Amino acid sequence: MLSRVALRSTSRLTTRAFSTTQARHTKVAVLGAGGGIGQPLSLLLKSDPLVTSLSLYDIRGAPGVAADVGHVDTGSEVVGYAADGLDAALDGVEVVVIPAGVPRKPGMTRDDLFKTNASIVCDLAKAVAKNAPKAHILVISNPVNSTVPIVARTLQQAGVYDPAKLFGITTLDVVRASRFLAGIANTDPIKTSVTVVGGHSGVTIVPLISQSPAGNAVKLGSEEWKALVHRIQYGGDEVVKAKDGAGSATLSMAYAAAKFANKLLRALKGETGVVTPTFVESPLFKKEGIDFFASNVELGPNGVAKIHELGKLSPEEQELVNAALPELKKNIEKGYEFVASN
Ligand SMILES: NC(=O)c1ccc[n+]([C@@H]2O[C@H](COP(=O)([O-])OP(=O)(O)OC[C@H]3O[C@@H](n4cnc5c(N)ncnc54)[C@H](O)[C@@H]3O)[C@@H](O)[C@H]2O)c1
Repeated sequence: MLSRVALRSTSRLTTRAFSTTQARHTKVAVLGAGGGIGQPLSLLLKSDPLVTSLSLYDIRGAPGVAADVGHVDTGSEVVGYAADGLDAALDGVEVVVIPAGVPRKPGMTRDDLFKTNASIVCDLAKAVAKNAPKAHILVISNPVNSTVPIVARTLQQAGVYDPAKLFGITTLDVVRASRFLAGIANTDPIKTSVTVVGGHSGVTIVPLISQSPAGNAVKLGSEEWKALVHRIQYGGDEVVKAKDGAGSATLSMAYAAAKFANKLLRALKGETGVVTPTFVESPLFKKEGIDFFASNVELGPNGVAKIHELGKLSPEEQELVNAALPELKKNIEKGYEFVASN
């Protein structure tokens, strides 16, 4: 049922015409749709033919974004919900993308956002558990290393947690790695794939350049490799600094999230061989007490189909993984503690 504040922005006729040509309906919700990431992400999802219905929610501004995005000439239906419309926004939703929260200002780490974003994400996860317990959840809100465990524990408490359906979005690190390496190797960024593993902040971001054909071909010297790794790990700071107090990456982040969402939607539809790095509950370092880890994951009709091992690492990359593990453990425990004490 639509909330009082809902705004239906495409005609029934368009929706019906589109649905006859689509074998599968996929309703996607964006929670935080009025924000810097949420707005361009909503636009990109509206442009994705695999999205048949788009539900936009924010504590401010979502009906306006829906009215605007809803005029784009693709077949999907767009409905915007205001602050009191969260339950209705989640009705029948199969994929939930969460960019709600506050972004960084210069000098802040992603961990500095913890207090505010932890409770936002926790409240939204409770609402998903209640209204769309089988939905796939894509978490963008930082610090991802902690917000994903928060969502997991919240869903667990509600008795609806399925680890195959919860993803921390680390795609921006992958996009940056491709772009930055391609700049050095003089290759086409879109064909310059780099696997990035670990987590999504500073030292927990571990690009595996040695596994990339372009990375191997270009034969980076030690200093060049270090500079490239540092740029991938701290690329977000370049944006935060350049925006000078106005926030962090929004446009490239929206692109990255839409890219990940498209891969998931393709896999949900039955496409095989869809593999991408993402931060999920993972067996890779469970023995070390690290429940979540980003690595290449094969996506399937039910979400996570297969979690890939890290593969062969150079000694330097092994050192990066070693440095990431204690930080990740701390971040994950911080998320668990938040849920336990709230
Ligand atoms: N995963 C990544 O790679 C990555 C990259 C960049 C930014 N981020 C994170 O994404 C988040 C959003 O960044 P932004 O630049 O879009 O921020 P923003 O401030 O522009 O937008 C955030 C939006 O969330 C909304 N919001 C706040 N509380 C809400 C709630 N309870 N329910 C629904 N909506 C709510 C706000 O009204 C706002 O519209 C931040 O936490 C940021 O750190 C993640």
